[in-house]
Amino acid sequence: MKERGAAVFLDRDGTIIHDVGWLKDPGKIRFFPDTVSALTRLQAAGFRLFIVTNQGGVAQGALTEDDVHRVNREIENRLRKAGIEIEEWYICPHSREERCGCRKPSPYFLEKAAREHGVVLPASFVIGDHPHDPETARTAGAQGLYLLTGHGAKHLDELSRDIPVFHNLSDAVERILVQGSRPLPNACSPAAAAEALRAGRVVAFPTETVYGLGADLFQPDAVAEIFRLKGRPLYNPLIAHVADKEQVDRLTARIPERGRRLMEAFWPGPLTLVFEKRPEVPDIVTAGNPTVAVRMPEHPLARNLIRQAGAPLAAPSANAFGKTSPTTARHVYDQLGGEGYLIVDGGACRVGVESTVLSLTGPEPLLLRHGGVSREELEALIGPVRLPESSGAGRPESPGMLASHYAPHTALELRDGEPVENPDPRVGLLLFRPVAAANAGPAEILSPHGELKEAAVNLYAALRRLDGMDLERIIAYRLPDRGIGRAVNDRLKKAANPFLTGDGGAEGADGTEGAGGPGGQQ
Ligand code: TXA
Ligand code: MG
Repeated sequence: MKERGAAVFLDRDGTIIHDVGWLKDPGKIRFFPDTVSALTRLQAAGFRLFIVTNQGGVAQGALTEDDVHRVNREIENRLRKAGIEIEEWYICPHSREERCGCRKPSPYFLEKAAREHGVVLPASFVIGDHPHDPETARTAGAQGLYLLTGHGAKHLDELSRDIPVFHNLSDAVERILVQGSRPLPNACSPAAAAEALRAGRVVAFPTETVYGLGADLFQPDAVAEIFRLKGRPLYNPLIAHVADKEQVDRLTARIPERGRRLMEAFWPGPLTLVFEKRPEVPDIVTAGNPTVAVRMPEHPLARNLIRQAGAPLAAPSANAFGKTSPTTARHVYDQLGGEGYLIVDGGACRVGVESTVLSLTGPEPLLLRHGGVSREELEALIGPVRLPESSGAGRPESPGMLASHYAPHTALELRDGEPVENPDPRVGLLLFRPVAAANAGPAEILSPHGELKEAAVNLYAALRRLDGMDLERIIAYRLPDRGIGRAVNDRLKKAANPFLTGDGGAEGADGTEGAGGPGGQQ
């Protein structure tokens, strides 16, 4: 049990209930599907629960304090029926201009709880879907956790890079509950991970795109272990992850002018560039190719780890070959088990799909995989970017182009156009945005706001949830084919390919590959 002073301060809108703008009508309250179970777990573990909410709509005249109280009472009643007690409600009704002193990110209410309720702030947490929530925690000496629900995905760019991010309330609660007591059995600190890497061991680590499974690039035996753990065929080369420009120079002696401009504009970030390799780069990393793929991840934890390891890390995504990529540490553990490698847990990934892979070794830039940086963004900087020919047969130019990849266990069908009614409860839907069509089965909405970036962040976690429901089939609807939407469509298309398991059998990808190119829908 926790010491009695440990508390969790929760934001209201977007964190425990859907954010529908200034909420006046108690009839419009909608809890998230996991709100009750998550709060029940916190309470059972001895945490005291508080709500801290900014209701600036009062100052703007959009609603009254009475409206706010009425909604709060209703939430409180419903939670109480489920056995959950909120110890105190803290509401700031002011606007920013009023400089009230109680509006988040001010730690005012947290400090009040410390004085009046004996809350011990260093043992406490703040959970919310706005950057001011974890900021409030920081100024009060508590710990902040950030959710991608509500407005979370939208404000991600404003969030300080060292705050852990979670797909939903349950994941954040899971983190709070395991902290110190029950972490993943093979979880370790970044310092211990760096030491293990130097000693030739394999480590799973977070990047902004997906979790990677890394080893010191200059230790071929360690790199071989990655292939073994993933069940990845040796013809599929790995990306070299670097922390700084000096490490790039250890991998390649030739960076074309375009490459320099791209690195300047998009590094650190979700762009992988393929260069001619130096002879020192081991063949196992590049699958015998004379080229090497290099990327500088944006995640501070990843870069720190690479720096401490003292060498570039060769790392594919930390999933079993051909299966859904991991965007949390637990995803990695669930798929690869706990043996043979360590995990650094850095919360959920902020981009959610893999990096874009661009080859700069030919006469013109060649886009080998759609990803976190869009084709539009690349072309705005360096002009036209070519897509690989629909070759028909043979070895793909980049194995990220294997036709089946990123696949769930459940059969997945990819559709175009507007979602239609689904009468079958054994069929799950993967939707870009909320739709009106009736649906008898479970549905995952990738972006409540209809935004492509938000959809990408949620893609793999949503696929996994549907995959865990023992459904007969998943029907996914294609996103708008622009920006990062292409990368999502590309993953969906590969997840839908029924002909290949991706388990090495992918080498016979003749014909199917031609249908695709790196995004399929050109
Ligand atoms: O976002 C990402 O890129 C993640 C994180 C962990 O950094 N990594 C990742 O790695 O997705 P992986 O191994 O799942 O995908 C690497 C892609 C594959 O499509 C591979 O074929 C391509 O990069 N690649 C690697 N080396 C290459 C090379 N020398 N030439 C062409 N393509 C290469
Ligand atoms: Mg992968």
